[in-house]
This record gives sequence, C-alpha cells and structure tokens, in this order.
Amino acid sequence: MSDINIEKLAAFCKKKGLVYPSSEIYGGMAGFFDYGPLRSEEHRTPEDSWWKFHVQSRDDIVGIDGSIITHPKVWEASGHVSSFVDVAVECKKCGSKSKLDRFEVGKVKCGKCDGEYVDKGEFNPMFTTQVGPIKKDSIKAYLRPETAQIMFVDFKQVVETSRLKLPFGIAQMGKAFRNEISPRNFLFRCREFEQMEIEYFIHPKNVNNCPFIAEVQDHEIIILSSDDQSQGKTKGTKMTIKQALDKQIIKTQWHAYWLALEHKWFISLGATPDNFRIRQHLKTEKSHYALDTWDLEYKFSFGWKELQGLANRTDYDLKQHMKHSKKKMTMYIQEDKERIVPYVVAEPSQGVDRAFLVFISDAYEDDKERGNIVLKLDPKLSPIKVAVFPLVNKDGVDDKAKQVYKEVKTCFNSFYDRSGSIGRRYARQDEVGTPYCVTVDYDTLKDNTVTIRDRDTTEQIRVKIKELRNVLWDLLNKKVLFKEVKK
Ligand code: GAP
Repeated sequence: MSDINIEKLAAFCKKKGLVYPSSEIYGGMAGFFDYGPLRSEEHRTPEDSWWKFHVQSRDDIVGIDGSIITHPKVWEASGHVSSFVDVAVECKKCGSKSKLDRFEVGKVKCGKCDGEYVDKGEFNPMFTTQVGPIKKDSIKAYLRPETAQIMFVDFKQVVETSRLKLPFGIAQMGKAFRNEISPRNFLFRCREFEQMEIEYFIHPKNVNNCPFIAEVQDHEIIILSSDDQSQGKTKGTKMTIKQALDKQIIKTQWHAYWLALEHKWFISLGATPDNFRIRQHLKTEKSHYALDTWDLEYKFSFGWKELQGLANRTDYDLKQHMKHSKKKMTMYIQEDKERIVPYVVAEPSQGVDRAFLVFISDAYEDDKERGNIVLKLDPKLSPIKVAVFPLVNKDGVDDKAKQVYKEVKTCFNSFYDRSGSIGRRYARQDEVGTPYCVTVDYDTLKDNTVTIRDRDTTEQIRVKIKELRNVLWDLLNKKVLFKEVKK
C-alpha cells in the first residue's frame, strides 16, 4: 500500500479523469461525485468482477435490480425510520461537524484537533422525497439508504420464480443514499454511493453447517475480536479460518465462510492480503437488526476503516416485513414438514466506491526512478488494457500503427497516442494503469513486428503482429508471464 494521503489521491483521480466533484462549475456539493471517462470504464470492472464472482460463477445466488424509491412502509418495517439514527456533533474548539453512534458521545474527541464534541441531537440520514406532483395527493417516500431491503421485500417473488432451495443468496448492486452530516475522505463517505450486497438465507438450524467451509479453512486473515477490543488491544492476530472457528472467535461456519470469501475477492483482484483485517463489532456498536457483525477493514492512509459490513441479521427483516405487510415470507421444508422463516446468517455488504479506493490506494506507486506515478492495477481493473503508439508520425509508421490499433481494439479496450515523446506517452499510460503499451517503429515496416512494453517492469519484447492479439490476451488473462514470452 502506498501512504498517499486521501486529498492527494482525490487530486490525482481528478487530474486523470477518474472522478470529479459533482457539479463543480457551481462550486460542487459535498458528498457527491461524478465518474469521468476513465472511472466509468474502471468502475464497471470491479462491479463486473463482483457479479461474476458472487453470482454468475455460483449456482446458489441469483441477482435482482430493485427500484431506488419504494413504498415508505418498507423503511418503517425495516426499522430505518425509527432506529437508523446517528448523533450529530460539533467540535467546541474547531467547529468541525461529525456523526457518532449514541454510545460514542462523550467518549470520542474531535478527529481534527482533539477538542470536545457538543451533542447537536439525533438525525436520520435517509433522504426524503415526494411521490406525486400535487403536494396534497402525494406521499412522502425515501431514497433507499441500502439496497438490502429490496431483497427482503422481493423475497417471496424471487423464491417462487427462481425455484430456490435453502441455502441460497439474493444479490443486488445499485445506488444508495444517505444524508451524511459530514461527508469526508473523498469517496469514503459520500451522500450518494453504490452498494453490492448479498442476503444469504439458510435454515436456522444450519448456522454451523456450511457446505463450502473446506474452501476457506486454510485461508489466513488478521482478526480483531470484540473481546480483544474490550481488553484494549488494537492489533489483530493473523490466523486461519479453521483456527478462528476452533477457538470460537467466529461463532458460525457461515459467517466465517463469507468473511474469508470477501477477503479472497479483493485478493483475486490484486489487493495486498495483509492490508485487510476483520473486526467484530462491539455490543454497543451493532445495528438495530444485527445479532453479530464483523467488518472487513482496510488499512487506508487515514487508518483502519470499514470496507464491508457482514451482519448476521437472523430472521429480523423477513419477520418485520411479515408483520407489516401481513404477507407470508416463509418456506416449506420437506424434511421438517413445516414452514420456516429463513435466517440471514451473513450479509456481505460492500460499497463500490470504497472498493475503488482500495484498489487505487493499493496500486498507487510513486516511482522516483521513472519520475512518474505507476498505477499497478490488476489488468482486470485497468480502464485501458493496451495503448498503441507510432514511434514517429511519418514515413508510413503512423499508418501501420493505426492499422495495429484497429486490430487490437477489436479485442481489448485500447488507446491510440501519437503525441509527445515515447517516454512521456509511457508515463501517461503508467499513471492510468495501462498494463501494456505497443510501439510501432521503422522495423515494423520491414518485418511486421512490434514491441510490447510491460508497465510494472518497463521490460520490452518484440512480437509478430499476427501473434499480437493472442500474446496480449494471454498476458492480460495471466495465462503466461511477461518473462516467459520474452524467452
Ligand atoms: N445493508 C447493510 C448496510 O448497508 P452499512 O455498514 O451501513 O450496512 C455497507 O453499509 C457498506 O456500504 C459499507 O461497508 C460501505 O462500504 C458502504 N457505505 C455505507 N455508507 C457509505 C457512505 N456514506 N459512502 C460510501 N460508502 C458507504
């Protein structure tokens, strides 16, 4: 991980066309961001990968895409209207505003100047809106503060239409909105953000019977339990999932499975394993619906912070919706010869924007020798996969380069750059994380070969144009290493 501070990272992302403050020409609005051309490309890659990993590659999870505004009763039933509250506080000394959980008020000091906070009262971060143009006939509704509730509200429909049997999950990706008192740390805390969530339903008697546990038993992760924290420990202990279960640090197999799997997802996209840990919520910290919650945290330059919350929501939500809607949310279990309310044993809930911050922070390297930033992104996450340059813009070299570019572009998202020195062009691609640059030169006109330059090592190889697309495909998909092609 680089130690780049978050303001510098925000400035870098803006300069490179990844993310801008929203409506900046009017002064912007705190907590809202627009994705620029490159971020829009990159943005789809973690999402695509998340969907493939969690939905398409599995037989037990289906996806939905629910509406952002729902019947307001959804949020009454879920408890968000009455219990989704934070305490607004203001620092006596420097005046900065923040939000705290009720149990933190009086204990926590101002993060900026260590001053004392004054309690400014509770607030509910849900955005409200009016549905129906004529005020007297309209109803007050909410922009969803999480995608999760839609999975519960649609539970019956999804189970029936997809003919699901326990255990199974329902996944969703989409926008969520929270009127945060103090949006901060760039994309870390926004007012409009995106979530990727799964509600995973099991039979309540099977919390310790996860058929996939063997896949993660030996997986190692740094763990900080609530007991550790009560004893004043701030550092976690690295152990395997098996050890954590044997020692009863993680109470259920299913919870352990999902915690490990979510860590593995980040690692599968090139993130550094030891920059993550799992931290159990203290009793006082848990949400109104949770029996036990663990956060997957990441070591950002501004400290260990929540990346993903994995709550054991039990049957809280389905029961709440049954009570409020008077509709049955049960499933018939053949073996038991009875209907039961399934249990959500873990709810992996990931913010897309925080995932983006992780991948960028992990990949960011200020290479003093090269004199430029190198974003060492996993090729799957790179917005541009291949850049093509003509060495010179004359003598037919440029025409040949355009031909090569056209061919490459049919397979990979590519970029053609004809301006500036070759060194400058390499630097520009390093800074946006392009893994491979292809240069067309005078030799190309003679022997139909081009050079491929590797972003991470700056090494180069020469390949035949007719083999170029295959070689690039193998490199981008890690079927072969650069040094092997070189041989
Ligand atoms: N359905 C459960 C739920 O929403 P949460 O811990 O409030 O739980 C889950 O949110 C995840 O959503 C967080 O771990 C974070 O990644 C993301 N998230 C929440 N609030 C956010 C905000 N204001 N800005 C950016 N991401 C946020």
